[in-house]
Amino acid sequence: MNPDPNQTGLFLVGVRGAIGTTVLHGIEGLRSGMPPIGMVTAGPEFADLDWADYERFSVRGWDVAGDAHRAADDLARTGVLPPDLVELSGGLRDRLEMSIAPGVPEPEDRQLVDRRSADRLDLSPVEMVEALRGDIREWMSELRTRKAVVVYLASAERSRDLPEAWMDPEADPIKLLMTAPMDISRSILYALAAIEEEVPFVNFTPAPGATVPAVAGHARRKNVSVLGNDGKTGETLLKTSLAPMFRDRRLHVMSWEGFNMLGNKDGAALEDPDRKATKVANKDAVLPAILKESPNMHVGVRIDFVPSLHDWKTAMDYIHFQGFLGAKMSLQFTWQGSDSALAAPLVLDLTRLALMAQSRGEGGPLHAAAAFFKQPLEVEEHDFHRQMELLRKWLRPAT
Ligand SMILES: NC(=O)c1ccc[n+]([C@@H]2O[C@H](COP(=O)([O-])OP(=O)(O)OC[C@H]3O[C@@H](n4cnc5c(N)ncnc54)[C@H](O)[C@@H]3O)[C@@H](O)[C@H]2O)c1
Repeated sequence: MNPDPNQTGLFLVGVRGAIGTTVLHGIEGLRSGMPPIGMVTAGPEFADLDWADYERFSVRGWDVAGDAHRAADDLARTGVLPPDLVELSGGLRDRLEMSIAPGVPEPEDRQLVDRRSADRLDLSPVEMVEALRGDIREWMSELRTRKAVVVYLASAERSRDLPEAWMDPEADPIKLLMTAPMDISRSILYALAAIEEEVPFVNFTPAPGATVPAVAGHARRKNVSVLGNDGKTGETLLKTSLAPMFRDRRLHVMSWEGFNMLGNKDGAALEDPDRKATKVANKDAVLPAILKESPNMHVGVRIDFVPSLHDWKTAMDYIHFQGFLGAKMSLQFTWQGSDSALAAPLVLDLTRLALMAQSRGEGGPLHAAAAFFKQPLEVEEHDFHRQMELLRKWLRPAT
């Protein structure tokens, strides 16, 4: 059978999670005529560009536990997904369930995951990547497509040390896998499987993925685009939009304290200090990078799990700053957003950007995608407005 040039495979790691479920139903909602609110690439500024058609994105993916129907019901009950859309999409979820491949879990989770995923823990890291590559090939042939993107949406991982050899951008990560620790970050395994299959890889989580120099170097050599890390959807989006105002008006920020309350499974996972560390470090890094004239600024970031909030992440920030002659002032804000409704349209944007980079032959880390991430790959700029300029310049190189 001939490939269908309009079909795109959207292969999600953690497909039964809150974001994965919102993406699946979001595409269905868009197909039925709902407006693409929150999608940057669908706005009037960029609408004329040659984007992949999101209505032709077909979701497949990996997971280690859960149930797609329950995930959708939870999101409907908590006011994120429209209940009628969830009801109408039952058949879609049945088909998704039948196609889901077992994931490669972290070793500590062996007792918590389904049997097929636990079995993958008996493979060596080289075999794990081979198994994931096999899944990608199978989905691409089933969908009759040559275009696909892997998006990493798995639960926040525990932080782990990596042997020094991985820090060399010239090193061959496939060879390094032969002696890699069995608990190597799963984000690296999924990234390598995608790169080996010449499929772009987007890392929406704080896990290392293509921040590892050997992985980024490999993507460059294989000419596969990689995008990441850690989606910028809530408090950090606000911080990196507001901080430039203090910088440009030369107001001296003395303290910026942020208190985040998360109630979903992501929040529960981040209760584990090992998983929380990278997330907090990513959130911590953005303000000093923008507010260089406020060198003694006190930055505090706290993340607490508050189950009753469900998907409605709440951030309370207190900014204490000084003006002319040292006058002290403050700004406080409270942001309450649906974590998944904020993230899902960005997953669709990033899929389109990854495909565009790939079609332009631009492999390696895509710097132009910096505005979408807390820890943009190889980009020091955290100012959201400047990051958007980077994106505009890349999208219209002549202007
Ligand atoms: N929502 C946001 O605004 C936002 C912003 C930045 C980063 N993130 C990150 O995105 C990720 C997804 O968020 P979510 O709210 O959908 O989380 P979630 O907990 O609802 O979903 C995660 C899914 O990943 C699955 N999973 C866990 N380990 C896996 C593995 N090794 N292989 C395959 N599947 C695995 C889980 O079973 C679950 O279904 C999290 O890491 C989160 O920190 C989210």
